[in-house]
Amino acid sequence: MRQVEDPLVLITGASAGIGRACALAFAAEGWSVAVGARRADRLETLRGELEAAGAPRVFHRVLDVTDRKSVAAFRNGLLETLGPPDCLVNNAGLARLVERLDEGEGEAWREMIETNLVGVLHMVRTFLPGMEERGRGHIVMIGSIAGRQAYAGGSVYCATKRALQSLCRALRLETLGKGIRVTSVDPGMVETEFSLVRFRGDETKASGVYEGFRPLEAEDVAACVLFAATRPPHVNLDEILVMPTAQADPWHLHREESMR
Ligand SMILES: NC(=O)c1ccc[n+]([C@@H]2O[C@H](COP(=O)([O-])OP(=O)(O)OC[C@H]3O[C@@H](n4cnc5c(N)ncnc54)[C@H](OP(=O)(O)O)[C@@H]3O)[C@@H](O)[C@H]2O)c1
Repeated sequence: MRQVEDPLVLITGASAGIGRACALAFAAEGWSVAVGARRADRLETLRGELEAAGAPRVFHRVLDVTDRKSVAAFRNGLLETLGPPDCLVNNAGLARLVERLDEGEGEAWREMIETNLVGVLHMVRTFLPGMEERGRGHIVMIGSIAGRQAYAGGSVYCATKRALQSLCRALRLETLGKGIRVTSVDPGMVETEFSLVRFRGDETKASGVYEGFRPLEAEDVAACVLFAATRPPHVNLDEILVMPTAQADPWHLHREESMR
């Protein structure tokens, strides 16, 4: 198989953090880029940045991955303009709070499960059949170290990321022989809006997460996604675990007084 001419990547949750960094990294590599998220103003700004970075074609539209109608409208708009994606990056995701399961709230659980898991199912269900028909395509999941090693206070978030691992394995089996690649990129701690969202806008709590410690940057993760997507079609990177040097696992971080 040869590499595609004018390849198109679709990235969910591209209004911030890792998704936005992925969009810019692919654009700089000359890919056309389709981006979705719920905040329209952010996408509008990003559109200009993607064009400036070198994306030949850009599609942006409000997308809520938890809402099937929103996913269908996004798909229809994309197919009418740029066509089907060669690579789908399922990045949209969030954690809510750090709390014991027996103290948790149903609403936060639902939000995590619907975004991190059901949202991915909607996206894959929508775009995988076309990839199979064309005999090529790449599905990337942004998983997490949390999907490999659970931590206290993160039960539901960890469970959603663990589920993505099973989903990736099942997808590799179901699409075997159809030219489909499935990659899970699993980061440790990355400094984005993730902690701000997790602590519902509490900036003190959010910045405390990264105090005295050098986390990954969104661009570090984007580089891994781009690397996986730009391997030759016969090469599938199944899993990439990318950690900050100062983080050994979810519980062991090296914090320095001088960085506080
Ligand atoms: N930061 C970390 O330490 C870390 C570590 C491991 C894995 N991850 C994973 O990396 C992914 C990206 O997180 P991030 O760190 O970049 O966080 P972020 O800065 O908060 O970005 C999350 C993105 O997801 C979007 N999003 C949330 N709900 C959505 C929905 N229903 N539909 C569409 N888009 C939605 C947000 O946009 P809107 O609000 O505009 O919709 C935003 O663009 C997540 O899957 C997260 O679990 C993060």
